[in-house]
Amino acid sequence: MEVSTLLTSYVARVERGLDQLLPAAESRPARLHTAMRYSLQAGGKRLRPVLVLAAAELFPAEGRPDPLPAAVAVECVHTYSLIHDDLPCMDNDDLRRGRPTVHKAFDEATALLAGDALLTHAFALLATGYGAQPALATALVRELGAAAGSRQLIGGQMEDLLAEKKADATPEELEFIHLHKTAAMISASLVMGAIIGGADQTAVEALRTAGRHLGLAFQIIDDILDATTDTATLGKTAGKDAKAGKTTFVQLHGLDASRRFAGEHTQKAVAALARLPGDTAFLSSLAHDMGQRAR
Ligand code: IPE
Ligand code: IPE
Ligand code: MG
Ligand code: MG
Ligand code: MG
Repeated sequence: MEVSTLLTSYVARVERGLDQLLPAAESRPARLHTAMRYSLQAGGKRLRPVLVLAAAELFPAEGRPDPLPAAVAVECVHTYSLIHDDLPCMDNDDLRRGRPTVHKAFDEATALLAGDALLTHAFALLATGYGAQPALATALVRELGAAAGSRQLIGGQMEDLLAEKKADATPEELEFIHLHKTAAMISASLVMGAIIGGADQTAVEALRTAGRHLGLAFQIIDDILDATTDTATLGKTAGKDAKAGKTTFVQLHGLDASRRFAGEHTQKAVAALARLPGDTAFLSSLAHDMGQRAR
């Protein structure tokens, strides 16, 4: 199947999963559940849940549990991280996924609570979706808990804020930020898919490495796009990083070097994927297409 057709079908599966596995908008308190769905169903790229599904499918289908609850759980954590990232006390953004941010469309307290609820829901989904296979459920909770926690995603967000307006942030600090705030969740997505597929340790580690490079490329590209693309195309406010005094790849290394680094990390991701058994053509093309976003 064409890569774009396959991507469309993965995204459609994710959208259906989100709709089925989130509390109904009208369930009480409707304001909270409406806010959770408002942000979740605004149509992000769904990269992370697609990685979960595609990684699971690298492994034989027979007896493989459905990766969809894990894919939805990952997207819940990602979306919560965006809702909180946009809050006035963090990046103070008005626009996300082409819509007013949750704290603009609702209010700050609702945005805070919608984020809290999405984060919690993710782990409830893993426990219920894989409850019949306790060892699998535990492994998935461990992986997502680590990626979303203070040593990874939140640690990266903390250092991102600490580096703001810091004139002397170093390349090492920036790499820490990118690895933790972004690459950790991308890596975990691939690894969770692999765990569901019953991958051995060698395959899990190859996917972890691929995710790390994919994640670094992804955040470098996000930094490039913030500096080079318009708000309408991005669906979020362009030019925010420079205005906020963020330490970004573009600010530290310039556009040309950023494009080069993104390309190198994409190549390394593809090389790690090539070490895996199974058909990795889709994942490699996805990595390649992602790299093309900032050309
Ligand atoms: C935005 O992630 C936050 C970053 C880590 C750069 P995405 O660019 O994947 O956002 P959505 O999910 O498509 O909205
Ligand atoms: C956000 O990084 C990473 C998260 C974990 C939310 P950014 O602050 O650069 O993401 P955008 O540009 O607002 O999407
Ligand atoms: Mg941020
Ligand atoms: Mg932001
Ligand atoms: Mg950004």
